[in-house]
Amino acid sequence: MVEKKAFVTGHPIAHSRSPRIHGYWLKTYGIDGSYRAIDVAPADFPEFLSSLHANSYQGGNVTIPHKEVAFARVERRDEAADMIGAVNMLWLEDGVLWGGNSDWIGFAGNLDEHAPGWDRNGPAVVLGAGGASRGVIHALKVRGVRDIRIVNRTLARAQELADRFGAGITAHGAIGELLADAGLLINTTALGMHGDATLAADPAGLPGHAIVSDIVYVPLETPLLAAARARNLKTVDGLGMLLHQAVPGFERWFGKKPEVTPELRQMIVADI
Ligand code: ATR
Repeated sequence: MVEKKAFVTGHPIAHSRSPRIHGYWLKTYGIDGSYRAIDVAPADFPEFLSSLHANSYQGGNVTIPHKEVAFARVERRDEAADMIGAVNMLWLEDGVLWGGNSDWIGFAGNLDEHAPGWDRNGPAVVLGAGGASRGVIHALKVRGVRDIRIVNRTLARAQELADRFGAGITAHGAIGELLADAGLLINTTALGMHGDATLAADPAGLPGHAIVSDIVYVPLETPLLAAARARNLKTVDGLGMLLHQAVPGFERWFGKKPEVTPELRQMIVADI
């Protein structure tokens, strides 16, 4: 049988943890395949896309700064990519280049694993209105969360997302009283990354049953999660989102739905 090949491309790409995740699964399931990081400069990206078929790739992941160009250049897109406005995975099907988005599956899968029932916990407050926020909002919508409150420093960006995703979503320029009856608080901004002490929101305003999640995973315990934990609130860190977003790609390229195991998580934690 011919070896199946997949990749992750970005610029830069050396920091990507995806090759370790997919490498772990290839080894675990004894699959004859490869998954490698390919650094492609923005100017070369369109040609890279055109060459996938000739190079016999099954497909691959796309990360910063190529997600929007991939969105524009693929021949077909899945529904999630259309809603989110970005493509993070590619595959070839009967010679047609498809683009999809699995970030939202990563978000939902992480909460399903660590906080089952999260989607029935009440209103959700989402901090941030960038690309990462769109994946989270799509997941909340798909999973039936009906009251979604986007809070962003720049109100106009939050409003844009509220308009894009439709009914049940409101935009806010400040946190105000939004936490008092919330069941979920999710940080999608880079605040808290690399130990930045700034707290985007004080979880003190949340009810005791609330779940607090951060999509940042460096450090694993962000200032927001630390403050939430100090209040005995349920917290879910961002690493699981990275692990779970990799599942749909692996299944598509290598034909096996992989499991996010504690051993895999431990392996990546050791690297952080
Ligand atoms: P990403 O694709 O990672 O979400 P992005 O599109 O640059 O990145 O969005 C970054 C998000 O973090 C935005 O919501 C941004 O707020 P603005 O829209 O007001 O810029 C938010 N953000 C970044 N730095 C911030 C800061 N110092 N204080 C508050 N919000 C911040």
